[in-house]
Amino acid sequence: MKFFVDTAEIDQIKELNDLGMVDGVTTNPSLIAKSGRDITEVTREICGIVSGPVSAEVVALDAETMIEQGRKLASIADNIAVKVPLTWDGLKACKVLSGEGKMVNVTLCFTANQALLAAKAGATFISPFIGRLDDLNMDGLELIEDIRTIYDNYGFETQILAASIRSANHMSECAKIGADVATAPASVIKAMANHVLTDKGLDQFMKDAAKAGIKI
Ligand code: E4P
Repeated sequence: MKFFVDTAEIDQIKELNDLGMVDGVTTNPSLIAKSGRDITEVTREICGIVSGPVSAEVVALDAETMIEQGRKLASIADNIAVKVPLTWDGLKACKVLSGEGKMVNVTLCFTANQALLAAKAGATFISPFIGRLDDLNMDGLELIEDIRTIYDNYGFETQILAASIRSANHMSECAKIGADVATAPASVIKAMANHVLTDKGLDQFMKDAAKAGIKI
């Protein structure tokens, strides 16, 4: 499973990228706003750091404007994936932009039917939002499973990019299901390294080493 980091914070991207933990980046208008930077400038900088796909989202509701904005975003760098919302207009924009050879990430997916439409419109990535479904007492992981089954049934090449990930557990569950990509905040990716027994065991080893005067 590929790891994308869901942020526009350069320091976080660099730290994970240096460790080989980043196969791509996803941003959205809320993350860009949080960074306090100009979208073109910060997206260009991210594309210079990470060689994999960097999702940059349009901010429009009609297909024509989405296509125009998508072309501008795609001109920032070769590794841009234009992010469009899963609306009827977003699907139209996906069809046109993917037909021009641009990578397209269709976002805000909450049903298997939406994912099926995105695949038929030529999406490179479909982004089902796990956490936001869980917030409504629905099963976000079940959606990932359903999309995996449907895409495999028909050999769709659209990659499942599990999004809105809130915990390390979401990451391993997505990997078990066979999501192609998971995008998560840096804090979640780092939390995957944690275990209470690792901390406890390490504490004991350090104490025993100190007691025995082990020096290396
Ligand atoms: C993905 O592309 C989205 O930017 C993101 O995963 C949304 O996550 P959130 O629901 O935590 O805002």
